[in-house]
Order: sequence, then C-alpha cells, then structure tokens
Amino acid sequence: MLGQSLMNEIKTRGFEVTGIARNGADVSCDISNDEELESIISSINPHILINCAAIVNLTKCEDNPGHAYLVNSRPSSIMSEISRKAGIYFVQISTDHYYTGDCHKKHSENHPVHLMNEYARTKYAAEVFALTNPNSLVVRTNVVGFRHDLKAPTFLEWVIQNLQKKSVMTLFDDYYTSSIHVNQFSTALMDIIETRFCGVLNLASRDVFSKKEFICALSDRMAYSLDNTVIGSVFDIGGTPRAESIGLDVTKAEQILGYELPTLDEVITSIIKEYDEGLNK
Ligand SMILES: NC(=O)c1ccc[n+]([C@@H]2O[C@H](COP(=O)([O-])OP(=O)(O)OC[C@H]3O[C@@H](n4cnc5c(N)ncnc54)[C@H](OP(=O)(O)O)[C@@H]3O)[C@@H](O)[C@H]2O)c1
Repeated sequence: MLGQSLMNEIKTRGFEVTGIARNGADVSCDISNDEELESIISSINPHILINCAAIVNLTKCEDNPGHAYLVNSRPSSIMSEISRKAGIYFVQISTDHYYTGDCHKKHSENHPVHLMNEYARTKYAAEVFALTNPNSLVVRTNVVGFRHDLKAPTFLEWVIQNLQKKSVMTLFDDYYTSSIHVNQFSTALMDIIETRFCGVLNLASRDVFSKKEFICALSDRMAYSLDNTVIGSVFDIGGTPRAESIGLDVTKAEQILGYELPTLDEVITSIIKEYDEGLNK
C-alpha cells in the first residue's frame, strides 16, 4: 500500500525511483537475504533509500517471531550500515503501535513506548538499528489507503466493502489512531525528505479519533447506512495483544514542514478523491 503510493509521489516530482519487493516490483528481492539486498542496493547506488517493507500482520509476527525479526528488524541494520558507508540518506518507515490506555492522547516522539507484541518489538528494533546511522530518518505513522489486491484488502477496503454490502460490522469506540490517507503521507514524507531531517518523527493526521469516529465520518461522506453496525470494544477481540491508543503528536513535523497536517475531515476528503478517481478509471 505505502510503497505504491510513495512510488507515484516520487515519480510525480520528477525523480527516478526503483521499487523492490518479492512480487510485482521493478526488482525482485527478499530483504531477509543480506547478499541479495546488498548487491541490489550497490547496483542501484541510490541517493535515498526508503524501507517500507514489513510483515504488518500482527498474528503472523506473533506466530513466527524469528521470521518477523528477519524481515522487520534485521534489514534495517543492513540498510543503515550500507547507507552510512555510501553516504545514502536512509528512511525507515516505522509504526505508531507503541501506546496503550491513553484514549485520545497525542504521543510525542519522546513518549515512553510499550512493546505489546512481536510486531511492535521488531519495528522498534528496526528504529534502533536505523538510528545507528546519523544520516537517517525514522518515521512513525498510521496510514490508510487502497492496495487494489482482491486477495488482501486493506482496512479501508474492508470497511468500504462492508458498508456497500451492508454486512454486520463492529465499530470500536476505544481504539484510537491518527490515521492519514497514504497519499497525504507520501506528499508530506517527500517534503520532509527534501529537508534531510534526521532522527525520529511522527507523521500522521493532526487529529486523534476512534475507529468508530473514522467509520462514521467515512460512511456519512459516502452516504452509506450504518444500520448493520454495532458498537464494540477492541479489548474483546482476543488473540494478539494490541496497542489501542496510538494517536501521534505531529507538532514537530508541522514545524519542519511549515504547514498543518490533515484533519480527519481532510483525510476523508482525500480518501474519497482517490476512490472516485479509481471508479472513473
Ligand atoms: N498500514 C498501516 O496502518 C501501517 C501503520 C503503521 C506503520 N506501517 C508501516 O508502513 C510500512 C508499509 O506498510 P503497508 O501497510 O504498506 O503494508 P503492505 O501493503 O503489506 O506492504 C508491505 C510491503 O513489504 C513487502 N515485503 C514483505 N516481506 C518482504 C520481504 N521478505 N522481502 C521484500 N519485501 C517484502 C511486500 O511486498 P512482497 O510481499 O511482494 O514482498 C509489500 O510491498 C510497513 O513498514 C509498516 O510497518 C503501516
């Protein structure tokens, strides 16, 4: 999801970009293979290296922590080291999955983190690895968008499908995020990259809202009924423990950017714009 959006933004700005993944990218590579990764980076010899790759499924990380480490953490160390030696600016995409029990709180970059599951542990380790290179940026975020892969719908695609089919859906009113539309994130990230800021930075919506508030705002603007929805608690899901108060304070990013990051209303507008353009195509 994020990689595709970022590639579009980079191309729109007139830069050359090479995408790397195991499937469907310019170059095929499993980033847990050090030799393959090193050889591809040195053959491309980029000015900037952005690591968006990760296993994002909490259960997959929990069930196989060793593999999660090999994909989510270790490559950041390899990329950071290659970048340091070659003078490449390294960007590690991290997560907001670090906070619990705080409701609408906006967490600054310095707020203590809780590592509640293997996903969070592996992503935090990747942050530490990335920061061994002083010329690196670690970005904490929460993105929503379209992946256009029928076999693996994103959260947003799943919500829209449920609204369209009028399926029963639970709205969590105690799960808080500052989700930003992935295209808005890509634009803001490229603006930050142009400043070559180094260190940890939150980049997300300036609002913190519950999943219920997000779905209500989306359904209202898309004119879908919420008749078949019920209100529920994220604490009743069971399974992998999850961080649920993951709002981010974006004051620092806004100071660097010199403009305000989007509100919930602006996030919804951007999502609907991409949705309508997709329908038109
Ligand atoms: N979605 C969110 O709400 C969210 C929130 C906070 C942070 N993030 C972070 O944002 C980044 C992008 O997430 P996303 O939501 O865009 O996830 P996504 O759509 O699942 O993208 C993950 C990418 O990683 C690649 N990948 C996975 N394993 C790989 C491997 N072994 N070798 C090479 N590539 C591999 C995948 O391509 P292949 O499978 O083809 O290899 C895919 O392109 C991740 O770092 C994630 O932790 C996401």
